[in-house]
Amino acid sequence: MTNGLWNGILAMRAALSRTTEPVHFACLSKSGDVAVNQYLSVDDVVYVGISKAPHHPPPGQAYLQKTDTVRFSLQKHGDFDLAALRQLRAYLPYLFMPQMAEAKGRACTVAHFAQSLDGKIATATGHSKWIGNDENLVHAHRMRALCDAVLIGGGTLAFDRPRLTVRHVPGEHPVRVVVGRPDANYASLLHACDQPILVYGATASATDAPVEYTKLPVLSDGRVCSVQVLEALYERGIRSVYLEGGPTTTSRFLKDGAVDILQLHISPMLFGSGMSAVKLDPIVQVDEAIAFRTFTFEPVGDTMMFVGVPENVHQPVSAEPPSPAAPKSN
Ligand SMILES: NC(=O)c1ccc[n+]([C@@H]2O[C@H](COP(=O)([O-])OP(=O)(O)OC[C@H]3O[C@@H](n4cnc5c(N)ncnc54)[C@H](OP(=O)(O)O)[C@@H]3O)[C@@H](O)[C@H]2O)c1
Repeated sequence: MTNGLWNGILAMRAALSRTTEPVHFACLSKSGDVAVNQYLSVDDVVYVGISKAPHHPPPGQAYLQKTDTVRFSLQKHGDFDLAALRQLRAYLPYLFMPQMAEAKGRACTVAHFAQSLDGKIATATGHSKWIGNDENLVHAHRMRALCDAVLIGGGTLAFDRPRLTVRHVPGEHPVRVVVGRPDANYASLLHACDQPILVYGATASATDAPVEYTKLPVLSDGRVCSVQVLEALYERGIRSVYLEGGPTTTSRFLKDGAVDILQLHISPMLFGSGMSAVKLDPIVQVDEAIAFRTFTFEPVGDTMMFVGVPENVHQPVSAEPPSPAAPKSN
């Protein structure tokens, strides 16, 4: 993707995040210039319709028609750069996560992981760098730049020592969120950038934790409810969250019905052993599996990424009522 196109997408994200109104019209020129709420009538323009009502661009121009909260259908007229249109179709839907979040009353999520052909995201010893290819790494950094926050579990923090910053593309670092313990080792995040580190967990607060810790109500299985994490993030103004694993955390979000979009990067490797990408309760019949309402397979360099909207998720485990004095410390 050219820098002009990427900067145009970032500018549209900034413009869209300033309002929650559903009706806008944005124009993106091939040079990356963006104008919101106005039509441009030059030939070299991709029209992006963001409107509840269908609109009809002038003949000879390409446009993306928003069909519901996250999907677009692409209609092409005339001679346009198909690679650029493909990139727009891949990334523009995520700009509408704030509107999705407003409708749901919680932050919305895109879960991402890179797995082998046999569904493993790490070896048995926890080694996972790198299952994905370079293009997938760039893609992950684009998604970090498009989301308000990135979220991982305590296991990934301990194994991978990630920074969770945007380094491979232009863009702002996201807020970093961890589900886990307040007394974990946060050095890799603390040294990476100044964005806040928010930690949500089920244990009592450690008074000297170097992060902002919030204890949430505990479910019957001893864990916190993913939806409550997303509601707490929403209260802080965070509308979109990129879930970067690991499998325990992503599986928990799936079980709680809290994964809105799944991005599963498939690498041409076979492990034959190791950590499974998803850990769910055993099912008996195929029709009990999590299915996908819509999905596509998108090229990522010389590999593929599955992108789907899950449905048929399991029912969340019931939570204890929230304690009136849920402690919170910095
Ligand atoms: N290939 C990939 O794309 C990819 C991506 C990410 C990670 N990984 C790999 O995944 C492995 C780590 O897997 P993992 O499953 O152990 O890691 P994880 O999901 O990152 O962390 C699990 C831990 O997070 C905390 N946690 C998560 N959800 C919670 C909840 N709802 N309530 C309370 N605590 C919660 C718990 O920590 P406590 O037990 O401390 O309370 C739990 O043990 C590493 O090998 C890493 O390299 C691979």
